[in-house]
Amino acid sequence: MFKGSALITGASSGIGAELARLCAADGYALILVARRSDRLEQLAARLTAAHGVTARCLACDLADPYAPRALFEQTSGDSVKILINNAGFGLRGSYTETDWDAEARLMQVNMIALAHLTKLFAARMRSTGGGRILNVASTAAFVPGPFMAMYYASKAFVMSLSLAVANELQGTGVSVTVLCPGVTQTEFFDAAGLQDSALLHGPAMTAAAVAGEGYRAMLAGKAEVIAGARNRWAMLSTRLAPRSLLARIARKLNSGKSA
Ligand SMILES: NC(=O)c1ccc[n+]([C@@H]2O[C@H](COP(=O)([O-])OP(=O)(O)OC[C@H]3O[C@@H](n4cnc5c(N)ncnc54)[C@H](OP(=O)(O)O)[C@@H]3O)[C@@H](O)[C@H]2O)c1
Repeated sequence: MFKGSALITGASSGIGAELARLCAADGYALILVARRSDRLEQLAARLTAAHGVTARCLACDLADPYAPRALFEQTSGDSVKILINNAGFGLRGSYTETDWDAEARLMQVNMIALAHLTKLFAARMRSTGGGRILNVASTAAFVPGPFMAMYYASKAFVMSLSLAVANELQGTGVSVTVLCPGVTQTEFFDAAGLQDSALLHGPAMTAAAVAGEGYRAMLAGKAEVIAGARNRWAMLSTRLAPRSLLARIARKLNSGKSA
């Protein structure tokens, strides 16, 4: 029986590729979104062969403000039952020196595209029998992040928006779950210029483990999930600590050897 489709942004690597694998294993038809179409096509071929599902690849730059509306229209006949807003990237640097255009793209991808897709698909799901939305934030959502200020702020936005919309949609058949991974072994650190960050000296989860926790929480309709017991404990402590102390800790973690 056709279960509907799962649209996953940022499916070309890391956590998104693992989430796509879980959707395929559950029998959802896939709609895979990212810029690197070669990666999407390879993943689509692998998952189609392994799980017998159909897979469409939509190469798309979510930094384009028109991209969310275009994706919504391109999938109007697809019965999207799962939307996973996972695409995102980080930028490192002192806030007075980082490039504004790069930060504007970060806001567009991490925040605005996610917010727009959530709005469009939640409304369609609500009028067509329900659905599940998973928004990927970060443990960065809990603290201010010196030297990655815009990235941390973008994830705080994702967390707040997702929890509010989840609450609004209670009882409608549409759930919104926000997933907060801690440090995870993906291409994220290379893309963000964080190869020498102290963040990489601590424990890291695999993308598969993070995706599994997020996927299960989404199916259960939970509003929020922090991936990994260690991260859950660490985020509990952020509720008591002064924000200035949290900023000092994050500054150390985000800084390279030279900072
Ligand atoms: N890794 C971590 O430690 C960590 C921790 C907390 C939260 N997260 C969050 O987890 C999510 C997934 O990241 P990841 O760790 O799996 O990193 P990743 O391997 O670098 O994956 C990022 C994904 O986002 C896509 N993407 C980036 N810019 C895009 C754009 N302009 N348009 C469309 N797609 C774009 C990339 O695809 P293309 O390059 O092909 O476009 C890629 O598929 C992100 O939201 C990230 O902020 C990661």
